[in-house]
Amino acid sequence: MKRTSLITNNLALTGAGVGVVICLAAALGYAAPVAENWENHCAKCHGADGKGQTKAGKKLKVKDYTDAKVQAEMKDEEIIKATAEGVFDKGKEKMKAYKDELSAAEIKEFVAYIRKFKK
Ligand code: HEC
Repeated sequence: MKRTSLITNNLALTGAGVGVVICLAAALGYAAPVAENWENHCAKCHGADGKGQTKAGKKLKVKDYTDAKVQAEMKDEEIIKATAEGVFDKGKEKMKAYKDELSAAEIKEFVAYIRKFKK
């Protein structure tokens, strides 16, 4: 009995250690907050406000994410897939894939972030 609890204690300590390392990694910018990622990677086209009224956004005709209709037509999985795999139209790249630059967790966070643009 005593031995088991010692092992559990050790495991718990290891877990805490891993947690600290993950927090440290986040603090060092390996996993940036979603707002920062949006600003750095997405706002150029989709706009800081999600409306897509930037020079590049207008040219590429990006959708307005404050529009409830646009939001309704877009599924959560589509947000993740578009961001991870990119957006293509007849084989032509409209938006690049971000899976090499951003982690799966970071990409998933865009779902809630994009949903918040809705009026
Ligand atoms: C170079 C410009 C550009 C950048 C940068 C960009 N996108 Fe896009 N994005 C587009 C275009 C063009 C489309 C296709 C038209 C549309 O759906 O609005 C698109 C489509 C999307 C879609 C819609 C998928 C669907 O099913 O309707 C999502 C979600 C998306 N982008 C998220 C992001 C996120 C998140 C980032 C940042 C990590 C990002 N985009 C960066 C240009 C860009």
